[in-house]
Amino acid sequence: MNRNIIVLDTTLRDGEQVPGAKMNRAQKIEFAEQLKRLRVDIIEAGFPASSEGDFQAVQDIVRSVGDSVSVTALARAVRSDIDAVYDSIRAAQDPFIHIVLGTSNVHVEKKFNRSKESILQMGVDAVAYAKTLLPRVQYSTEDASRSEFEYLWQTIEAVVKAGATIINVPDTVGFAEPEEFGELIYKINDRLKNINGNVILSVHCHNDLGLATANTLSAIKNGAEKIECTINGLGERAGNASLEEVVMALKVRESLYKSTTNIETKELLRTSRLLSYLTGLEVQVNKAITGENAFAHSSGIHQDGLLKDKNVYEIMSPEQVGAESMELILTARSGRHAFRHAIEKMGFDTSDETKLEQCFEEFLALADLKKEVYDHDLFYLLRKQREESADSISPMLELLSFQVVTNDLYPTATVLLEYNGEKLKGFAAGDGPIDALYSAIKSLIHLDVSLTQYKINSLSRGKEAIGRVNIRLNHQGKTYSGRAMDTDIINASAQAFLNGINAILLDTSNG
Ligand code: KIV
Ligand code: ZN
Repeated sequence: MNRNIIVLDTTLRDGEQVPGAKMNRAQKIEFAEQLKRLRVDIIEAGFPASSEGDFQAVQDIVRSVGDSVSVTALARAVRSDIDAVYDSIRAAQDPFIHIVLGTSNVHVEKKFNRSKESILQMGVDAVAYAKTLLPRVQYSTEDASRSEFEYLWQTIEAVVKAGATIINVPDTVGFAEPEEFGELIYKINDRLKNINGNVILSVHCHNDLGLATANTLSAIKNGAEKIECTINGLGERAGNASLEEVVMALKVRESLYKSTTNIETKELLRTSRLLSYLTGLEVQVNKAITGENAFAHSSGIHQDGLLKDKNVYEIMSPEQVGAESMELILTARSGRHAFRHAIEKMGFDTSDETKLEQCFEEFLALADLKKEVYDHDLFYLLRKQREESADSISPMLELLSFQVVTNDLYPTATVLLEYNGEKLKGFAAGDGPIDALYSAIKSLIHLDVSLTQYKINSLSRGKEAIGRVNIRLNHQGKTYSGRAMDTDIINASAQAFLNGINAILLDTSNG
């Protein structure tokens, strides 16, 4: 009989630690709602002790999806962190506290400079305290794969006695190798089930050697009952095990792994795209499952084989991950009915007729410009509209007009912005047209910011361009991203920059 593997998504915690992947509160809620549609079992919503903003974002996520998805958040093994987790997640229907503490020599000796006994006691005390708050507690033995087995086991045994209900074994630095990691999990599972058959064994793998998916699957084969993953494999350094890869491997090779998950795989692609959009971090084109080319067959031999029978070169169908159903091509003649149908298929709410009509008008304008409107285009159009209405109460810089003159001698830009009802005009020269444009905007905003990344890409098969920027707020060292889409690449670049600046203004005005 198949085992059901519990899937915890930690995109909003481990994934969000990545520089440039910061999301604001509204974006986190948006993403959590999509994780709910994806049917993940648990959302790790953040690290509430790290900042007031993180604490509030975890609370917001609990409010928006905590009635139907289990929510957890991370704490170090100290009371103040545990209290912050408890206070932020307690309103969820099935919350649990996640405590992390290292077990490897390098963590115990170098990071904490303490004895193994005192670290073990610190972990036990933390679990005992967390148990006074909630019945379910997860304990992560950080850097487990580089820990001495006997100390690792001693720790697990002690925290289980103190009441831990989930033991999470992380390969924190992506050092593990699949066979070896499988053996470790087998050994722990064997002993764990002898001391308490109800404790859940979980794994959390990082991808430093490109082995996170393989290690996670090997752990499942060897008894892991719960896995921690992120969408697009986002996470510290080389990232975490990619949820879409592990889930689809279990599905495609079900008879081998004899395991299933509750994941609604048709939501995988949409979730991946939403994350790319929200963070500005794109997926590599050949990424398994969600890359642009994951289902594209380019060689003549392959195309010929596919036409004869899909099984010749396809181990899973694009429909299974939601690819086919997203491939919509609309034109200005598509009409309201087709438009509504298309956006409902993408998971957007169409109950507000006024907003739908407004959106339809924008779609028509875009269709006039582009002739063919693809899934990507619709997706960005809808997201843009939703963001605009969500931000309408916030301080917003708006681009009213611009002129950019480009030549090889003296590129210049003039911009007209509106901020809080005031019109501001700026002018600057630069190394090139974009440098001039951004300098002109910067001359008006009085913020010490640096552009750390700028990209302009064409979108799907049309003429639309998407501009993406990362902007560092220098005195805080925090990076914000901005994106915008337009058929004019200079306008897309300007709007992306302004969206990034607006994200800074929004964040700093929220304290
Ligand atoms: O990588 C790691 O060890 C972690 C723990 C908090 C589970 O992220
Ligand atoms: Zn991690």
